[in-house]
Amino acid sequence: MSATPPIAAPSILSADFAKLGEAVALADPARDWVHCDVMDNHFVPNLTFGPIVVSAVRRLTTGFVDVHLMMERPWAMVEEFRRAGADQITVHLEACPETREVLRQIRATGAKAGLSLRPGTAWRAIAPYLPDLDTLLVMTVEPGFGGQAFMPEMLEKVRAARDERSRRNLEFLVEVDGGIDPATSKLARAEGADVFVAGSSIYHAPDPKAALEALRAAIAG
Ligand code: DX5
Ligand code: ZN
Repeated sequence: MSATPPIAAPSILSADFAKLGEAVALADPARDWVHCDVMDNHFVPNLTFGPIVVSAVRRLTTGFVDVHLMMERPWAMVEEFRRAGADQITVHLEACPETREVLRQIRATGAKAGLSLRPGTAWRAIAPYLPDLDTLLVMTVEPGFGGQAFMPEMLEKVRAARDERSRRNLEFLVEVDGGIDPATSKLARAEGADVFVAGSSIYHAPDPKAALEALRAAIAG
């Protein structure tokens, strides 16, 4: 099922994997996405999970499963992640020399195609691919770990994406990921972000359900 922006996307990276069912159930399939962070210990220093966990998430929700691949050679596993149940597959520009080809490959599986850029990658590098995207994922921390502080300098990229989208009459969504909580989501929303990934501010909160509600309220306002 898809949802209408603004969209909250709880990131299970910060959830208790012994209670994955509870973590996924927090997301409302009608309006939230479930964000899954795949890390390979090469593209980023951390190592998380692969298609097996994505397929478990798939069986736990009818909602939109958003898979963020922080891995080298992501094209080698695109079909597998789609078979596991990904609704959207996001790859990193820095890991895809044949960017356009990989985006085409993702769409050919029937999944939506996302492209992400690290904080250090200039906005201009991604501009040529905007017409080929369903979602542009702007990293607002260095990818690899949850719980890092939001980088306000990245708001410039969000604004540039929004401006470019209207200038070129494009339709991709702008997603922000890293250090998102009610306060930072408001800043990103004001610059035009549509999708708000949040891990620790939801799953490490004393009341994750209330934290997700607070995020929804912040982006709706
Ligand atoms: C970081 C991941 C994020 C992560 C965000 O590399 O891409 O999706 O879950 O975590 P928080 O919300 O804790 O910054
Ligand atoms: Zn992510």
